[in-house]
Amino acid sequence: MSTLIRTSGLLAALVSCASSVRATTDYLIVGGGTAGLALANRLTEDPRTSVLVLEAGGDGLGNVNISSLALVGAAWGTDIDWKFPTEPLPNGVSRGVVSRGKVLGGSSAINGAVFSRGDRRDFDLWAAAGNPGWATSDVFAASFKSEHFYPPPANWSIDYVGRDHGYDGLIPTSYGNPAPPIQQDMIASVVNYGGSHSKDLAGGHVDGMAWITHSRLPSNQTRATSATAYYFPFSYRKNFKVSLYSQATRIIWKSTGDGNAVAAGVEYVDKSGATHVAKASKVILSGGVWGSPPILERSGVGNKTLLNSLGIKSVVDLPGVGEHMTERPIIPMYFALNTSLPLAAPSPLLMNLESLQETFAEGGDIAKLESLFVKPDNMAEPVFNIHKTLYNERAAWFEGYTLPINQAGQPTIIAWYAGLGRPLSSGSVHINSTDGLAYPLIQYNWWNSEFDVYATAVAAQRIQNITSTPPFSDWISARIAPPASVVTLDDFIAYVPVSAEQGNHPVGSAVMLPRKDGGVVDPNLKVYGTANVYVVDASIIPAEPSGHPQAVVYAIAERAAELFKSRN
Ligand SMILES: Cc1cc2nc3c(=O)[nH]c(=O)nc-3n(C[C@H](O)[C@H](O)[C@H](O)COP(=O)(O)OP(=O)(O)OC[C@H]3O[C@@H](n4cnc5c(N)ncnc54)[C@H](O)[C@@H]3O)c2cc1C
Ligand SMILES: *[C@@H]1O[C@H](CO)[C@@H](O)[C@H](O)[C@H]1NC(C)=O
Ligand SMILES: *[C@@H]1O[C@H](CO)[C@@H](O)[C@H](O)[C@H]1NC(C)=O
Ligand SMILES: *[C@@H]1O[C@H](CO)[C@@H](O)[C@H](O)[C@H]1NC(C)=O
Ligand SMILES: *[C@@H]1O[C@H](CO)[C@@H](O)[C@H](O)[C@H]1NC(C)=O
Ligand SMILES: *[C@@H]1O[C@H](CO)[C@@H](O)[C@H](O)[C@H]1NC(C)=O
Ligand SMILES: *[C@@H]1O[C@H](CO)[C@@H](O)[C@H](O)[C@H]1NC(C)=O
Ligand SMILES: *[C@@H]1O[C@H](CO)[C@@H](O)[C@H](O)[C@H]1NC(C)=O
Repeated sequence: MSTLIRTSGLLAALVSCASSVRATTDYLIVGGGTAGLALANRLTEDPRTSVLVLEAGGDGLGNVNISSLALVGAAWGTDIDWKFPTEPLPNGVSRGVVSRGKVLGGSSAINGAVFSRGDRRDFDLWAAAGNPGWATSDVFAASFKSEHFYPPPANWSIDYVGRDHGYDGLIPTSYGNPAPPIQQDMIASVVNYGGSHSKDLAGGHVDGMAWITHSRLPSNQTRATSATAYYFPFSYRKNFKVSLYSQATRIIWKSTGDGNAVAAGVEYVDKSGATHVAKASKVILSGGVWGSPPILERSGVGNKTLLNSLGIKSVVDLPGVGEHMTERPIIPMYFALNTSLPLAAPSPLLMNLESLQETFAEGGDIAKLESLFVKPDNMAEPVFNIHKTLYNERAAWFEGYTLPINQAGQPTIIAWYAGLGRPLSSGSVHINSTDGLAYPLIQYNWWNSEFDVYATAVAAQRIQNITSTPPFSDWISARIAPPASVVTLDDFIAYVPVSAEQGNHPVGSAVMLPRKDGGVVDPNLKVYGTANVYVVDASIIPAEPSGHPQAVVYAIAERAAELFKSRN
């Protein structure tokens, strides 16, 4: 970053006048990430529709850290990771760096590749919160459209439900290896401790422990990204253009009057530091949770007070920009086994989802939990109503997922992460400068809700109890984390805030909600107060789905393509 020329707003405007201006394209998509390339693919199915994608990173071709799922994590901290700094947490612990993909495919190129859709009820509540067209039937149909499911071989001992998957999509989903006995024992211990075994969570009934797919080609076990699935095989399309190493800084307006700002295009900086403008009929921001809100803010769309304090002229006063963001903290629990297992990485993944009521039936004070279930100040009323309804319906809330970690010559470690399906604490992302290339400020605000601390502590203690239950308990030689001193619920309550790691599931920083509720985009994903600016990425998600977000992001892109096509 430091080698790039940093231009002030004024200087950038002058430079852009002097530099080359591209011909107008129909859709300009900022960000060739998970959502951006999926949307670009669907729009360019019509050869009359032209799309230009601006991507800040390169193409990632030949990078084994992307293609090999055995190397998940290797890409973090390398040059295909944005490495956003976070603000210190309220407890004073700095979490350092937030990973996000800076390469074609975006975060789908560096993530854990877990493909899970969430609970059906999540999406009916998106619709009920004021977003017609985003009910379960709409979102699940769009999600099925993105998926090409490869069932596991019959002798792999993996349960699945064929009708709960899509088969005509571009993202291959599959399981890596036959189920090893130890993981079958994990399921047995969950059941023995009073939990349940679900045959598949992909149909949106998400209670119980089940096998989960990854976005992966079964033929050679390589990762599928939005670039490998939605772009590279289609790059021959003349109407599908991608400009690499092109970092968008702000929207250029044609007119800003009458509460209906019209975008002319987008200003961006190339690899040499030169500034350009790309013109378009429609501007679509797909820069991700940390990428899209800063572009709006630098363009004058956001909290007027905040923007004025930075010397930015307000174009649309939209205080929800950058707010309402939730990121799921997770508590890692590591168990050393009595043996080194000959597991190919990544081994099959198990995911365990339970309602809080189910979890609390064993331990924890449900009345206390009830009393802690209060709306945080910065949470929109309709979003809290989503949470409350799901709580009352006993929808899955506690999320655990487990995977074996093999290190050469070491006993296998089983990681079992405890997290909340739907945390109440919410944070923000805002610019701190008019510098188009500066990092934004990321505030997680974890543990602002006491509910989150208490519920996470009970979930973590429950995992402790499940792993102490046969037959899985027989495999464990030692618990590595939390330390042996963490035993009682009070111990876990003290341990949770200081041991949490990022779940890497941030959503909701340019949220789809009615404008009066702090919404940034309407149900057509158009930014309020603008004529032709849209957001299509994880930023629009109103409330954390009870699953991993990438499948939801692909569904959002597929749904957005349907909406754009139906209007043309
Ligand atoms: C480490 C990690 C692990 C994860 N594990 C999982 C998992 O196992 N399962 C799961 O479902 N989800 C997982 N996620 C989350 C999931 O990957 C994301 O929710 C999803 O990919 C987000 O998609 P997106 O389109 O919103 O953003 P991204 O995919 O991040 O795309 C944004 C794109 O925009 C580009 N961009 C940003 N700003 C600009 C700009 N100004 N100009 C030009 N281009 C720009 C970026 O370079 C990037 O390519 C993980 C995420 C991370 C980071
Ligand atoms: C892959 O990851 C490793 C470990 O982080 C890093 O050293 C290496 O440079 C990366 N490779 C590429 C091509 O970026
Ligand atoms: C499953 O069957 C195939 C084909 O007969 C065989 O090669 C493979 O080893 C079997 N796998 C397991 C886990 O039994
Ligand atoms: C894996 O298979 C896909 C599809 O056949 C192919 O495009 C890709 O190059 C292969 N990758 C590797 C690393 O073999
Ligand atoms: C807008 O920004 C100001 C200044 O940072 C802040 O005090 C105020 O709470 C913000 N408004 C909203 C609705 O977030
Ligand atoms: C875990 O087990 C301990 C000891 O039996 C018990 O006190 C506690 O309530 C259990 N907690 C949960 C969440 O199941
Ligand atoms: C935010 O901006 C202020 C004022 O310019 C500066 O002091 C501060 O260091 C910035 N914070 C970050 C995290 O960049
Ligand atoms: C480890 O424990 C499992 C489960 O009890 C058992 O089947 C296995 O034989 C043990 N392995 C070793 C090396 O002790």
